[in-house]
Amino acid sequence: MASLAIIGGTGLTSLEGLKIVGREVVHTPYGEPSGPLTHGQLFGRDVTFLARHGYRHTIPPHRVNYRANLWALKHIGVTHVIAVAAVGGITERMSPCQLAVPDQIIDYTYSRAHTFFEEGLDGVTHIDFTQPYCTEMRQALLRGGREAGLDLVDGGTYAATQGPRLETAAEIDRLERDGCDVVGMTGMPEAALARELDLCYASLAVVANWGAGRGGEEITMEEIGENLRTGMDRVRQVLKAAIPLI
Ligand code: HPA
Repeated sequence: MASLAIIGGTGLTSLEGLKIVGREVVHTPYGEPSGPLTHGQLFGRDVTFLARHGYRHTIPPHRVNYRANLWALKHIGVTHVIAVAAVGGITERMSPCQLAVPDQIIDYTYSRAHTFFEEGLDGVTHIDFTQPYCTEMRQALLRGGREAGLDLVDGGTYAATQGPRLETAAEIDRLERDGCDVVGMTGMPEAALARELDLCYASLAVVANWGAGRGGEEITMEEIGENLRTGMDRVRQVLKAAIPLI
């Protein structure tokens, strides 16, 4: 059976309903993960949870140790990862509180440790990343959404930006011209590192706000918080239906 991990993003620093059975500190060759791994049972299934930004939400997107997080999960035997991520909506169907399972990524991040394949190599290694997300996991999430009676967007391109600042209105326009549907700060290098470790990884994106210049004059943390509360309730419904399918 697949061993499943959930990486929680902004708005999901703990998994409601997770019956915690233990916490595990894993030290990795790449440094420390965002926190101890939390082992428990969710909807009758063994699940490992990790809060991407730390359990107190103190690690900004550009300082997350993505390599340590993914390596730690792989090390304990995880094979499948659901990455929950708050995003800004760019295109029309990506309105606040909408859930989406993106199928493509464009990486605009920089200066992040983005690969395991750089030292002590037997040979230069290039992973295939044509389809950046695991099809099996995407389908489980989409089917879970359908079974929960929720309208999830199937597909869309995730723009991974550096942060921690939000974008300018012109940057959002440019992202849309590039073909992006949502924008977030943590999707990369996380997805690529998961692929390097051969983990079946997909993202469940929750739209927290309209991208800069698409909604009101300014994006407020209150607005983001409020939409994420609704969005994360929906995430829990998707997880409940999707987890038995994985
Ligand atoms: N931009 C980038 N990342 C985000 C946003 C946004 O508007 N909202 C939530 N995460």
